[in-house]
Amino acid sequence: PVEAKIAPSMLSSDFANLASEAQRMLTFGADWLHMDIMDGYVPGFAKAILLLFLFHFVPNLTIGAPVIESLRKHTKAYLDCHLMVTNPLDYVDQFGKAGASGFTFHVEVSKDNWQELVKQIKSKGMRPGVALKPQTPVEEVFPLLEGEDPVEMVLVMTVEPGFGGQKFMPDMMNKVRTLREKYPTLDIEVDGGLGPSTIDTAAAAGANCIVAGSSVFGAPEPAQVISLLRKSVIK
Ligand code: DX5
Ligand code: ZN
Repeated sequence: PVEAKIAPSMLSSDFANLASEAQRMLTFGADWLHMDIMDGYVPGFAKAILLLFLFHFVPNLTIGAPVIESLRKHTKAYLDCHLMVTNPLDYVDQFGKAGASGFTFHVEVSKDNWQELVKQIKSKGMRPGVALKPQTPVEEVFPLLEGEDPVEMVLVMTVEPGFGGQKFMPDMMNKVRTLREKYPTLDIEVDGGLGPSTIDTAAAAGANCIVAGSSVFGAPEPAQVISLLRKSVIK
């Protein structure tokens, strides 16, 4: 019922050679390219004060729509954009124009406007997805999977968002199992710490879209890792 989608996270690539890095991953057998959009962060005391009205989502800055637009000129690949930002609605239009394929926003910052968000994302020709941080209960995405305009993918974070190269959190598999039981054909993506040593756990729980950054880019033979990840999802 669900297809395996292997999505190397371009966060682990050489940003200065993004087009050739993307092409390399596609040649190695990648289905999607995972693009991590992060908005930076205000730390410590300042954060406590600013939290209520202008806090940011993650402690890192990565890429924005201009980079997606540039990359789009070099590839027809599915660009799986994961927006770790506090105000996703503000970015829908620019990512649509830039050529994003999937637009995955975080449930933690869209409780009040997800219906509007999903509508806008679809109207710009993108595929809507919702992501949840490790501390967020899976029940919070249920409403987004019901009704006339549901999201088409759920991204279960298996590390705290912000950086590549962190350790996979196996406890998150309860969320994946719950989603898979309830939604047999849903695209369920796992993101963070996926690689040869964790893929079986994720696949057994029911994940079919696999983001992998450091395990793919850091491998001597990335093609072998991509093919192993795919076989583990399908078997
Ligand atoms: C983390 C990002 C991930 C990250 C995964 O905030 O959402 O996509 O690049 O990297 P690895 O696979 O190295 O954990
Ligand atoms: Zn991601």
